[in-house]
Amino acid sequence: MSVPYSGNFSGYTATLLIVSGPLTASVITYRSSLFEYFAKHMTDNAASKSSGTPNQANVSISHVMNETRLFHPTDDFRSKAHVGSIDAYESLYAESISDTEAFWARQANEHLHWFKPFTKTLTWDEPFAKWFEDGTTNASYNCLDANIEAGLGEKVAIHFEGEPGDTRTLTYRDLHREVCRFANGLKKLGIVAGDVVSIYMPMIPELPIAMLACARIGAVHSVIFGGFSAEAIADRNHDAQAKLQITTDGGYRRGKVLKLKETVDEALEKCPTVKHCVVFRRTGSEVAMKPERDVWWHDLIADVSDDCPAAELPAESPLFILYTSGSTGKPKGILHTTAGYNLYAKRTFQWVFDHKADDIFWCTADCGWITGHSYVVYGPMSAGATQIIYEGAPNWPAENRFWDIVEKYKVTALYTAPTAIRAFIKWGDHHVDQHDLSSLRLLGSVGEGINPEAWMWYHHKIGNANCPIVDTWWQTETGGIMMSPLPGAIATKPGSCTKPLPGIVPRILDDSIDHVGVDEGGMLCIEKPWPGMLRGIWRDEKRFKEQYWSKVPGMYLTGDNARCDSDGYFWIMGRIDDVINVSGHRLSTIEVESALVSHPAVAEAAAVGRPDSLKGQAIAVFVTLKDGVAGESLRDELRKHVRKEIGALAQPDDIRFTSSLPKTRSGKIMRRLLRDIAAGKENVGDTTTLEDYSILAKLRSDDES
Ligand code: WT7
Repeated sequence: MSVPYSGNFSGYTATLLIVSGPLTASVITYRSSLFEYFAKHMTDNAASKSSGTPNQANVSISHVMNETRLFHPTDDFRSKAHVGSIDAYESLYAESISDTEAFWARQANEHLHWFKPFTKTLTWDEPFAKWFEDGTTNASYNCLDANIEAGLGEKVAIHFEGEPGDTRTLTYRDLHREVCRFANGLKKLGIVAGDVVSIYMPMIPELPIAMLACARIGAVHSVIFGGFSAEAIADRNHDAQAKLQITTDGGYRRGKVLKLKETVDEALEKCPTVKHCVVFRRTGSEVAMKPERDVWWHDLIADVSDDCPAAELPAESPLFILYTSGSTGKPKGILHTTAGYNLYAKRTFQWVFDHKADDIFWCTADCGWITGHSYVVYGPMSAGATQIIYEGAPNWPAENRFWDIVEKYKVTALYTAPTAIRAFIKWGDHHVDQHDLSSLRLLGSVGEGINPEAWMWYHHKIGNANCPIVDTWWQTETGGIMMSPLPGAIATKPGSCTKPLPGIVPRILDDSIDHVGVDEGGMLCIEKPWPGMLRGIWRDEKRFKEQYWSKVPGMYLTGDNARCDSDGYFWIMGRIDDVINVSGHRLSTIEVESALVSHPAVAEAAAVGRPDSLKGQAIAVFVTLKDGVAGESLRDELRKHVRKEIGALAQPDDIRFTSSLPKTRSGKIMRRLLRDIAAGKENVGDTTTLEDYSILAKLRSDDES
């Protein structure tokens, strides 16, 4: 059995269930004044609660995991960082919340180009925000022209690595030219400001080029991840009333050619609003071109000018719609607008990744997700960064592909997802060991909670114990990172996204909308508007209000649970709907999962509740073991392990082993599906986002045995 990181598991100590105050076991290094700011409501409330009558309805979520490890930024990192001390963070934060509008106004004036300056910073008519409303700007201008004007024309914007190994390098000047040419192509097809353009492409430079070309002329892009089905494209195009489709003849994935154009052809049968389809030639494979409707990208731009001045757009012009599935019902088109989103993506990129001019940044997300929008396109590009774009799978041609790329391009900052990190752990350390990763200075994580042991592996194995890890919490709706360490300022704790970014005021509330106490879990809400916030759900104002603004007056409801510890650090506890209720104790999925992942044989785990006549719910877990480890005999050992780490109450009742967990296409564990499977329900809900149907089939047959 291979153990990638020979850690001990003493980082966990079992603590009292239900609420305890600040934990004496935790290693408390400082108590920030900021914490006091946050904790004011919480402690007041906790005090009033303990003297009052406990109300079953307000029972908060129990916290059973206590992670005590703490990692300070090194002196070297700190001395070079933009925000290099906790005091610097705290004064930046204090400034940002003492007069939030003035803070963002200053940021917007200093960090965006304005054709016409704004005079109004914020109009807040809850839940509708307008930022910098009377100013005009252009996101494509901010990402391209502004860099060229600043002398960065010859700086590399994109190092592209195709899955087959082909490479391209584009400077900011190259990118500007390609964007202008394609924007002129869009104009030729009759696309004007406000039209919706649907983009379904593999991760090649033409994907950001198409996005920025839309932004340049004020068209609204709707990027659909290149792995979605024809039906998913048709639904989204219909909802968005898209006028144009952009795609490719194909893309490479694990050595095969994905037939994107075929999928689009099937989808467009059901999309009467789409008048044209532009096809970029990526693979050279044969595709059918429908006369009148379809046009090759290279033909479209063959005779256009290299010049296309960026349109002067009102700050609140829609920039893009991005569909996100949400926990139930049809996908919602999350709307982001121009200036506020652009500013928020740029500043959060600079703060969180401590961006330096000579960095080589690699965000491994696809532009089909918000992470690709904010931290491949709008954030890094408006900051003039050099970045890597990789087309393919992390395990093609072998499981070392990411590390090969890091070594080859001397990547300095790597931003990836826990699902990838856990896959690397499962595949084994030898894929990492053959590479020199010493160029890395910063690591990031996004998309799900990162289990502390996966964090430790990332820290040691990839970061050589020398790189801060930024665990970034945010959502498609928030537009950019909301909570994350600022890496030169905030010491990290494995599994915590630490503290809010400037201008962001998180609150944790119980079901009765009371603020919870220290270390009590509850609904995570955001109190003040921020420039990157969603402006609505496309064509569905009712759902926008209901989903995010109806339950908690005056606050944005994130849909996640969280707790805040005695150091003012935030810990995401999973989706509100995923809480497991065992004998009246509400447990968070991530804590049970993290206890399992702390066993050396376990690569990944999912925990769900299933109905139980005695306890209300029993805990069912689905476990993936590291490659080469045998399963069944571990069942008892794992049960005991969880009991030892976090207590008897959290001990799993059912343990099932699976070679891989069902995930959404963006890599999130599908706990809702697993819940149905654990409950033995026939109806497994909407499985259209399953990564691999064979996994579902396998788990079901387990059910039957
Ligand atoms: C949901 C948002 C954020 C961009 C990509 C996903 C979960 C995200 C973390 C984190 C714990 C996290 C939350 C959130 N999530 N980052 N660092 N720790 N949970 O965007 O698809 O809109 O998903 O992902 O549950 O609400 P998304």
